[in-house]
Amino acid sequence: MERAAALVLMTLLVAPAPARAQSPAVSLRPVLVQGAMPSETELLAGRLDGASVDRIGGWMFWRGTIDGYPVIVSKTLKGMSNAAAVTALAVQRYNPIAIINQGTAGGHTPTLRVYDIVLGTSAVSLGAFKSPRRDVGAGSNTLDWTPLDLTASEGSASSDPNARRVARFQGDRALLAAALGVKTAYARGQVVEGVIGSSDVWNDELDRIARFHSQFGTAVEDMETASAAQVASLFNIPFLGIRVLSNNATNGGAHDPKTGEACQDFVHRVIKAYVATLVRKAA
Ligand code: 5AD
Repeated sequence: MERAAALVLMTLLVAPAPARAQSPAVSLRPVLVQGAMPSETELLAGRLDGASVDRIGGWMFWRGTIDGYPVIVSKTLKGMSNAAAVTALAVQRYNPIAIINQGTAGGHTPTLRVYDIVLGTSAVSLGAFKSPRRDVGAGSNTLDWTPLDLTASEGSASSDPNARRVARFQGDRALLAAALGVKTAYARGQVVEGVIGSSDVWNDELDRIARFHSQFGTAVEDMETASAAQVASLFNIPFLGIRVLSNNATNGGAHDPKTGEACQDFVHRVIKAYVATLVRKAA
């Protein structure tokens, strides 16, 4: 982005500095892009211009610019708790204008192959359920469990009929449009829209995966997206999950950790496209 456009943005996209921000009284609100592992963050961090590193608790943030616009790459570490905690922390600390959570995932759709990318039209929690009553010795069957939406109300979810559904968080339309706009540039596989399911479980039971796919429409599963999306929604911050299949148990797709780099390369294009829309809006 040109310097002049950056100045226009400066006047239009400024926001009050968060309570604990260090220096400037006003600053552009950065795009925050999250990944759980080094293999899901380091390529993007290396593409930031003028990057500096912040360490907060066990988490690392690289702050820099892409096309002159501030972007923060956040290594969330793995799992739902890390994703939630670090998203809340980043919102308070950096006041992002939008959040992209990206990285690897396991396929739930049999026609999707390793290296295909899913743009999260929505993210669902695959970690909150109520089991039916079973007596001692009666065993356990997760296919009998009903979903629980822990965000449905402030009362007890177990007795609230409105909470007997999956918690679902919608992807932001402008972020999705930016991603769709660059999808033909991705040469490693297809880029499709779909539902991302998240929990701290790596599911390898094909009947359970098929149930999630048919009941909630999941295209892939991971361990972060729905959690970060939930926190982003409470702050009203536009959010999109972007996940590359690193494995697919439904069609024998073997795990390939190099997919994390392919995803970052695609997300880099998405960020450039999204930042360009922010500049156009401000001009
Ligand atoms: N199930 C769950 N998480 C997966 N991940 C990749 N594939 C899967 C899968 N099949 C991602 C998670 C987590 C790490 C284990 O890799 O998001 O960060």
